[in-house]
Amino acid sequence: MTAPEAARSLAALANRLRKNEARLRSWRSREGVTCYRVYDRDIPELPLQIDVFEGTTPEGEPLRAASLVAFAPRHGGGAAYDDVVTAAVAVVAGALSIHQAHVFPQLRERERGGEVEGEDAAASVLSLIVREGPARLLVKLGARRDPGLFLDHRTTRRLVAQESQGLSLLNLFAYTGSFSVQAALAGASSTTSVDLSLQTTRWAEENLALNRIDARGVGPAGPAHRVLRADALAFLQEETEAAYDVVVVDPPSFSRSRRAQQDFDVARDHLWLIGAALRVCRPAGVVWFSSNLRGFRLGDLAGLGQDVVVDDVTARTCPPDFQRSPHCAFRISRSIKSATRG
Ligand SMILES: C[S@@+](CC[C@H](N)C(=O)[O-])C[C@H]1O[C@@H](n2cnc3c(N)ncnc32)[C@H](O)[C@@H]1O
Repeated sequence: MTAPEAARSLAALANRLRKNEARLRSWRSREGVTCYRVYDRDIPELPLQIDVFEGTTPEGEPLRAASLVAFAPRHGGGAAYDDVVTAAVAVVAGALSIHQAHVFPQLRERERGGEVEGEDAAASVLSLIVREGPARLLVKLGARRDPGLFLDHRTTRRLVAQESQGLSLLNLFAYTGSFSVQAALAGASSTTSVDLSLQTTRWAEENLALNRIDARGVGPAGPAHRVLRADALAFLQEETEAAYDVVVVDPPSFSRSRRAQQDFDVARDHLWLIGAALRVCRPAGVVWFSSNLRGFRLGDLAGLGQDVVVDDVTARTCPPDFQRSPHCAFRISRSIKSATRG
């Protein structure tokens, strides 16, 4: 990108940010949304994702911050592009009225969902407690990883929570446990959050605690809200009882870890995964499956039984602050007749 091209793109970015901010304003105030995507690779030469997070610091100070994820442009990145990204930070700060030190850039080659371990340098990380409906959730900006809350599933979390009232939820690939928190607050009788990463399982426990949902307390029937550090695939293989009413399956596109017994590839393995999730469901249970793999196509579920009913809920779950479909999502159940028989 030449210097004049960069200047033009950055001016276009400022305009687009102001326009998007104005477009989203009434929706945000109607829905009470305080964390949202304000720029979604709108300008092809500036393939950025910019998310705004409004919340409070752990000390209770209100703060508005933004994450800026820069993907390598099609023609390649390079030093000049790094300079453009640095300049974009100032543009974001000016256009969105955010202190420049609270705009956190990150250069990234890959899509979300990989497993990242290890603590980040504390000085570079901003912790914020944000609100999503009734929930308080901890996000961390400035780390070399995702902030702890995937905004594209805001609506999915609400729909899953509504469906989980009085029921048991299994949350596989639970990450920081946001589905479990929303379900527990909506009145789920139990939640089980399973993730392979030590860091994210601790974070999920923190999120439960922030909402006064006790993840560790043991009652007569065991803890109602459990967080397990485990391989989700091994968990499903070992679970012998059909004990869950709602199962959330939101896996990464690919996963390879020394701790997992096997590699995972969503395109290759999703039919097995959905079948295994249905096996641990009660007869009237429901599986919410989603994938962020671009171009993902759900395979033929007929092999899992003629009574399997699939509802493509992608259009309902993709929120208005995302320009392009960030995920696809399916609600999968067994037909009522066989469920009541079972
Ligand atoms: C795409 S994120 C899941 C997002 C989450 N459902 C949410 O909405 O917040 C992927 C998560 O899967 C976890 N993970 C990757 N491979 C896994 C495996 N084999 N078993 C369990 N968790 C795994 C990662 O640690 C990461 O937290």
